[in-house]
Amino acid sequence: MSFKEDTKNDLPKWPIYDKNEINALSDVIKSRNWWGGFPGDHQGENVWRFQEEFAQFQEAKHCMAVCNGTVAIESALIALNIGMGDEVIVSDYTFVASASAVIATNAVPIFCDIDPNTLVMDVNKIESLITDRTKAIIPVHLGGNPVELDRLLEIAYKNDLFIIEDCAHAHGSRYKGKRVGNWGDAGTFSFQASKIITSGEGGAIICNSDDLADKIYSYIDCGRKKNGYSYAHYSFGTNYRLGELYAALLRKQLEKFPEQHKLRNKNGQYFGNKLNEIGGIQTMKLTPGTEECGYYVYPIVFDLSQFGKITKKEFNKKLNKNGIPTDDCYPPLHRVDCFKNIKLKKGIDYGNANWGKERSFDNNFPVVSDIYSRSIEFPHEILLASKNKLDWIVEYIKTLKKD
Ligand SMILES: Cc1ncc(COP(=O)(O)O)c(C=O)c1O
Repeated sequence: MSFKEDTKNDLPKWPIYDKNEINALSDVIKSRNWWGGFPGDHQGENVWRFQEEFAQFQEAKHCMAVCNGTVAIESALIALNIGMGDEVIVSDYTFVASASAVIATNAVPIFCDIDPNTLVMDVNKIESLITDRTKAIIPVHLGGNPVELDRLLEIAYKNDLFIIEDCAHAHGSRYKGKRVGNWGDAGTFSFQASKIITSGEGGAIICNSDDLADKIYSYIDCGRKKNGYSYAHYSFGTNYRLGELYAALLRKQLEKFPEQHKLRNKNGQYFGNKLNEIGGIQTMKLTPGTEECGYYVYPIVFDLSQFGKITKKEFNKKLNKNGIPTDDCYPPLHRVDCFKNIKLKKGIDYGNANWGKERSFDNNFPVVSDIYSRSIEFPHEILLASKNKLDWIVEYIKTLKKD
């Protein structure tokens, strides 16, 4: 059997489902309760139950389910009263949503470079980015790897800043005894199709403050109050609610998650050790204090000179041709078009932004620019494969080495 055929056969196709998901969807359809309902009546039980179950899993007091992870960030920002002209420090190495949610509130994202080993926001660089307009920090736990949260909290406390943890990659990650999403004021999650808990689209916000939970709930449900009268609108809100079909799927995916999470953690360690033995390959180093990692993606950084100076595009192509799924990592946000070419929003002062035109030059973000030029990522389902297969992938990468 060729390498390609064998690898393909052993890699689980994502998402994983069985008759439980199909039955859960069928039950919702037959019930005719296709939405969560007005706040007082909880007509559809899945949204309300999922909120409780996900809060319990993430060890948080409150969970508000929403229709995606982008509006989850926006809702937390709005509930914390962040808006017009405020500055929010965001990791530069993330999906655009971590910063576009800031733009949606009329605030200004300020990009922070990363640590070359953990690949997440370098907390030592934050204080130099703080101005009198800074109101919050959005750490992104890339690939499930927690940002150094205890240090981040000290900085936030000292400078009177809010923290919204973007946990879109980090369901189940645990740092120094506490699940991520509970360290800051709020934690936001995505359940989009490729995520480690998914319903195709979906999101959630967790928090531990009753007052903040009420404000978030009100924003995502038309300014209503939890359990309040349906046509009483206490604040300016919108509709970011999650539907029953999505919540029913999520409840079944959440049941499957702990076992998958355990295997990803076991294999993540194993695969990392093997890859690091090759020489010329560096895996994402877990932040010291990490006890569990979500591993949404598994990035590797390689030393081009040890692989015959092939580009990362060629590297990806070779792996993909052999049935090994890899992809490009996120382009650093300072250089994506909407920031580099400053697409100005009416009435907002972007004067303090550290992006746009020459401010977006890579030498202003040296670590992430270097890492991005040499990194690719495996999807999380690779960590659900057998050890034999992981060994085989490592063996194939060894054949690409040119000493
Ligand atoms: C780090 C990060 N934050 C936020 C999001 C936004 O989530 P969604 O696609 O559900 O809006 C994503 C999605 O990929 C993400 O990777």
